[in-house]
Amino acid sequence: MLNTIMSETLPTDERYNTSFSRYLDEYRRSIENTEEFWNEKSKIIEWFRDYDRVLDDSKKPFFRWFVNGKTNVSYNCLDRHIKTDKRNKVAYIWVSESGNEKIVTYYGLYRRVNALARGLLNMGLRRGDHVTIYMPMILEAPVAMLACARIGVVFNVVFSGFGAEALAERIKDSRSKMVITADGAWRRGKIVELKSIVDRALELTENVESVIVVKNTNNEINMESERDFYYNDIIEDGYVEPEKMDSNDPLFILYTSGTTGKPKGIVHGNGGYPVWISNTMKWAFDPKDEDRYWCAADIGWITGHSYIVFAPLLLGVTSIMYEGAIDYPKPDRVWDIIERYGVNILYTSPTAIRLLMKYGDKYPNSHDLSSLKTLGTVGEPINPAAWHWFYEVIGKSRCPIIDTYWQTETGGFTIAPALGLGLPDLKPGSATFPLPGIDPVILDDNGREVKRNEKGYIVLRRPWPGLMLTVNNDDKRYIETYFSKFKDMYLMGDYAVKDDDGYIWLLGRADEVLKVSGHRIGTIEIEDALVSMKEIAEAAVFGKPDTIKGDTIIAFVTLKEGYEKSPDLIDYFKRKIREELGPIMVPEEIHIVDSLPKTRSGKIMRRVIKAVYLDQLPGDITTLENEASVDEIKRAVEELK
Ligand code: PRX
Repeated sequence: MLNTIMSETLPTDERYNTSFSRYLDEYRRSIENTEEFWNEKSKIIEWFRDYDRVLDDSKKPFFRWFVNGKTNVSYNCLDRHIKTDKRNKVAYIWVSESGNEKIVTYYGLYRRVNALARGLLNMGLRRGDHVTIYMPMILEAPVAMLACARIGVVFNVVFSGFGAEALAERIKDSRSKMVITADGAWRRGKIVELKSIVDRALELTENVESVIVVKNTNNEINMESERDFYYNDIIEDGYVEPEKMDSNDPLFILYTSGTTGKPKGIVHGNGGYPVWISNTMKWAFDPKDEDRYWCAADIGWITGHSYIVFAPLLLGVTSIMYEGAIDYPKPDRVWDIIERYGVNILYTSPTAIRLLMKYGDKYPNSHDLSSLKTLGTVGEPINPAAWHWFYEVIGKSRCPIIDTYWQTETGGFTIAPALGLGLPDLKPGSATFPLPGIDPVILDDNGREVKRNEKGYIVLRRPWPGLMLTVNNDDKRYIETYFSKFKDMYLMGDYAVKDDDGYIWLLGRADEVLKVSGHRIGTIEIEDALVSMKEIAEAAVFGKPDTIKGDTIIAFVTLKEGYEKSPDLIDYFKRKIREELGPIMVPEEIHIVDSLPKTRSGKIMRRVIKAVYLDQLPGDITTLENEASVDEIKRAVEELK
């Protein structure tokens, strides 16, 4: 078995430098002696009670790791370090858009987390309860996540760029009893009024009993007596015993949406997840004790959960945390922060790189970036032009680029060059090789492995500790979405190829999920919001390739009887989407047409609309119920020109 994997997946040893052979040894061990390997790697965290079994796959695809082990993520991120010389080490250097700075040590963070945990207990929250966290990038956000983890409360972070409807949906599905939020968030010098968005969301839900509000922007807000409390009024200094959580108790739910159905609540647990993210961070980035690491993502996404909050804290790393836009107040914001704080490891997205590249070399060249040692990217394939700019202009051709391929569902990195185990030669745009424990294969529609350099679906053949536990309240959907196309193998939903040297190249989504500025956007949520407006009959949403953002959102809609097409109506639709779903979900263009191409069974053909719109051949349209609609789309496109 292993020989097949090694010869098919990996280049042979001799062709690489000697350090790469360490990677090969570790990889081999992870495949040949999986249980022994993970038994050793699980010691990266402390366990209150040892597990009985490393892996139980008797109920696959519900794989259970570290069965009956007891631990606590907050304990592992904090208590463990304050007994060592990391006690006074800086955990976070927080920097705001306006240049304010706060520094918190591991001990300081421990105190804050305990104080909030006590506050939450005083308010009646108990292990197994659910809380939604809707916060800007402020220190109280990781504090809230850790305080929940400490007392066994399952948290659901909702990205602060989402609007009231999207927030309400997630509050409802996660059955949250409480929302932790802030009065507002800073964005490009303006205040985003988070608390008023929460107020609107709560009009749409019934399960929330209380709201905790951090004062951040000091704007005037509405406070409901008996329901809303200021953070500073509920925290209480002291020590809270961390709950002994089972490995497979849920730690958090994080929603991600697709092309069908409601957003999926991806559930990660207390055992496999921390083991996976801390090992993968060590393998991929190899942070040293004195390093300063900056992951420029937002805690509202999985990158923030795993690699701003949990993995760096589990490893006792010093992180930069930044609240604000990366090009505000000036396009040199990122370079200024790197110079000012001596950042050694910078982890960001291809979108951010392309945006910063657009401003030109003069901004990075006016800063001393010599502290940088390692660069990383995530979120979408990185195009060679952006790769070279990042490598040459930012890293001065000295810093490897760790292109990390993974997803909300995988918990942490799956395919990435492993600096900590020995780097392969990098190829711009390839995420290179699987990390230990990951067994990828590229299949065609019939489940046969494709040949080298042929495109297929990337699938993982065996479980790894970071794999989600399930989809919240929907085990069936977990099986159907991820383990049905190819039985018992995890479908990542992306296309990929493996080249002659065994390098893996990701080619983007195999479904109609969009990647807008690296954010995963489900077309269905936008379509639902459009058709729920009284004026709109039908809607089709798809992505238009964009050189900076990856995709931009395009919508085609038809109107109900009695409504007339007008520019005002389009503006109104955009405004409504902004309020309900949030600014990142607003279509750049909304086109009103008389009819949309549909199959005879009534299914709207997004594929055809997109092809016509992009001036490509629409493929077979003979099955369309209304071929004339295609001409109408062509006309709408002509009008744009
Ligand atoms: O399409 C892949 C793309 O992002 C998707 C996962 O999105 P999300 O769950 O929001 O997580 C993003 C952060 C991990 C994947 O299915 N993707 C992520 N990283 C890469 C990537 N595509 C190519 N290369 C990457 N490095």
